[in-house]
This record gives sequence, C-alpha cells and structure tokens, in this order.
Amino acid sequence: MAKRNADVVIVHAAELVTCGGPPEGIRGAALQRLETIPDGALAIRDGRILAVGSTAEVSRRFAAPVTIDASGRLVSPGLVDPHSHLLYGGTRHEEHEAKVTQRAPARRMDGGIRYTVRKTAEASDAELVARAYADLDTMLLHGTTTLEAKTGYGLERAAELRLLRLTAGLRHAIDVVPTFLALHVLPEEYAGRRADYLAAAVGALEEASGLATYCDVSCDPICFTFDECLQVGAAARATGMKIRVHADQFGDARGALAAARLHATAADHLDYASDEGFRALAAAGTVATFLPGVTLHMCEMTPRFADGGLTDAEKPFMPLVVRRAIDAGVAVALSTDYNPGSCPTPSMQMVMALAARLFRLGYAEIWNMCTLNAARALDLAEDRGSLEAGKRADVAVWNVPSHGMAINRFGVNLVDTVIADGAVVVEGGRLKRGRARRRAGAPARKAGAAMARM
Ligand code: NIG
Ligand code: FE
Repeated sequence: MAKRNADVVIVHAAELVTCGGPPEGIRGAALQRLETIPDGALAIRDGRILAVGSTAEVSRRFAAPVTIDASGRLVSPGLVDPHSHLLYGGTRHEEHEAKVTQRAPARRMDGGIRYTVRKTAEASDAELVARAYADLDTMLLHGTTTLEAKTGYGLERAAELRLLRLTAGLRHAIDVVPTFLALHVLPEEYAGRRADYLAAAVGALEEASGLATYCDVSCDPICFTFDECLQVGAAARATGMKIRVHADQFGDARGALAAARLHATAADHLDYASDEGFRALAAAGTVATFLPGVTLHMCEMTPRFADGGLTDAEKPFMPLVVRRAIDAGVAVALSTDYNPGSCPTPSMQMVMALAARLFRLGYAEIWNMCTLNAARALDLAEDRGSLEAGKRADVAVWNVPSHGMAINRFGVNLVDTVIADGAVVVEGGRLKRGRARRRAGAPARKAGAAMARM
C-alpha cells in the first residue's frame, strides 16, 4: 500500500493523550477518563491532524519530510487558555506585597483595576503591543496555542475600543480570540450615574462587534448587577457577538444565572455561585471556567484571610465549589485569567499544577479541562482541543513521559516542542526564529478551512 504524504509525523511518544470527547464538552464522571496511547504517533498535513494512533500504524500509512522522535516524551494537544486580559500597562506587585504581608490595608479589587486603567492610558500603543507579544511568546513556550484575550483596562468607551483594536491586530502563532469586556467596574466619574455608563457601554457594542468574537460582562457585588448584565449582554448578542461572563467572584450576584439566561459560552470565577446557578449553567450548556491562579495569588486558600473588607462571607472552599459544578453536570474548564492584579502568571502549566493542589482535581480531570473543555469555553471544540483526525494541528511535546508527571512536577517549564496550526514554532524549549509571529495583517487561518481537503 502506497504511503500518503504528510508534512510532519511525530512517532514513538512514550504516551500520547488525545483528550478526545464530545464538542459539547466533557462532563461528570467522564472527566476522569483520558485516552492514552503508548508508543503513540500522529501525522499532520496542511495544518490539520491526518491520523492519530500507534507508531506502527501511523508509520505504515504516512511518509513525511519532517519526523519528530518523541521517545521518552508525552505528546498532548496544545493547551487552550480561555480567559486573559492580555493588554495592560504597569504592574501591581507593590499592591500584592501589601496584601500578602497585610502591612497596608488591602485595596478593593476595583481600586486595583482603576490603577491599572491609569497605567494603561499612560502606555503607548507600541508599548502595550510589545508587552503583549512578549507575553504571547512566553505562553507559547509553555504550551498554549489558543488564547482568549479580553479588554478591561480602558473602562471608558474610547479606551476600551483602543485596547480591542490593538488586541484584534495581534498576529501570533497563538490563535488569539478577542473579547470586548463591556462591563468590568464602574469608572469613578460615573458614580451615581450608572445608567449613563450602561448607555455608553451599549453605544460601543456596534463598533466592538466588528473586532471581537465575544462580549464579556462582570456580574458581581462590586461590579454590575444581574439586570445590568442582562441589559448589556442582550444588546451585545443583538450585534452578533457571543457572550461570556465574569460571575460571582466576590459574592453571589446571580452571575451564573445571568450567564445561563444570556446563553453565554462560558461563565468564569464562580467562587460564590449557587447550586441553582450551576444547574442553570449545565442546562444552558454554558462552560464554568475556574481560575486557580487567582485563588493562589489572592491568598484565598484559607478562609478568613483579611481582605480589605471585601466581603463578610467566609471565603468558599474552592475544591468543594469546583466539585459542586462537576456534580451539577456543568462542563468545567480551567484558565489563567492572566492580568496584573488577580493572576500575573501567563502559564497554563502553572494552572494545571495549581488545580491539583488547590482544587484537589484528578490529573485526568485537569487535562480534559485545559484542552477540550477549554476549547469548548471558546466554542472551538469542534476544531481543536484534542488530538483527533481533522482537527487543527496544535500539539505539545513534553520533557516528561506521562500526563501525570506533567502535573506532578511543577515550577519549571516542561514543554519541549510546540506545533501550532501545523507549524513547528517551539523546538528544544526555544522559539523558532521567525515562526512565532505572523506577518502583521496576515489573515488568520479560518477554522476548518483545511478540513475540506482531507
Ligand atoms: O478577572 N472582575 C474581575 N476582574 C479581574 C480582576 C483584574 C484585576 O484585579 O486587575 C479578574 O480577576
Ligand atoms: Fe478576568
């Protein structure tokens, strides 16, 4: 039998994890299952996965000019990070030190956000974009191949649209999905004039919809109410944007219910979400995204950490919250929430390590939550998030032999090789020169475009 041509084949993986599952996301007990192929292999052509199987099978069927020998290594899907605030100015390390040492009264989160808004306004476009590219390079080196990037440090209509334009203009090996964060926190100038601010937010949606895939709203006791989020979310939907929600981070503001009502693709944070909220998310098919980097960075592991009087309620114990979501049948994903205030790590590997330790999740659960379910949190699970024939060829090769060791060993970058959209962009733990950044203005590959050629 003549061999079919491929562009790249990976052979002899000590273990290949497919992370396959239904495009609606993996739920309940199924999260504990992970398909692993010993001596695994895969073939890639035109940016798509042609076949996945044992080395014997794949080598028999395919020939390629580039062969990657993954002996002794784990091969996995590229990681998907479905929540970040990529563009911002300044840093909040001083605020963080004051918080952890409890030397100074902690600033409420909305005060921290307003500080970053000022620093972002002071930064030039070139500075913001240069920092974003540096962060994208770091994320790619750590195995992330798809990233949701939202605005949020503009607050004023013109400033938010500036951040959205810059975000939408990024061209990188990481596929960046832009989100317009229409409601983050109320700017101080609008104190007592909430209706005016909501009207301004709605006024920006038409223009935002030309640049963003998603519109996000924050439904939280210190952000916006259930009704306000429904109002702006519904208006955003009418422009064609899909919806995501920052929900119930500092208290139950019925954010999960708002997300379900808006048929949001994902609801994120959810520390204080009710069981009714989780049941509503399950019924609506909305993904619940949890953010262990925030739990760590905000020192929320233990109850009653003094928190500047943010809330009187005892901090929920996050392992129980995440388990309640799983038991309610919600598709659960994990993400960084990369931002200068609540989570400055850009690494999904760190998120995986923290999810085991802070959320007490099993390793298979974590892999499913950072791959297929994270892709589902961006409505992209039909296109990526698992190593299955026909899907986008986003692959990570790790310096450890198993999926378990990739989570067990932490604090160092374990990714050796990254393939994004079929191209080898990281090799030997280093960016391949000229490969990570696409030419500015080059159109991103349309999802599924190459599938037709299969
Ligand atoms: O996703 N509503 C929440 N907003 C951010 C906080 C960002 C910050 O502190 O700057 C979040 O965690
Ligand atoms: Fe966020």
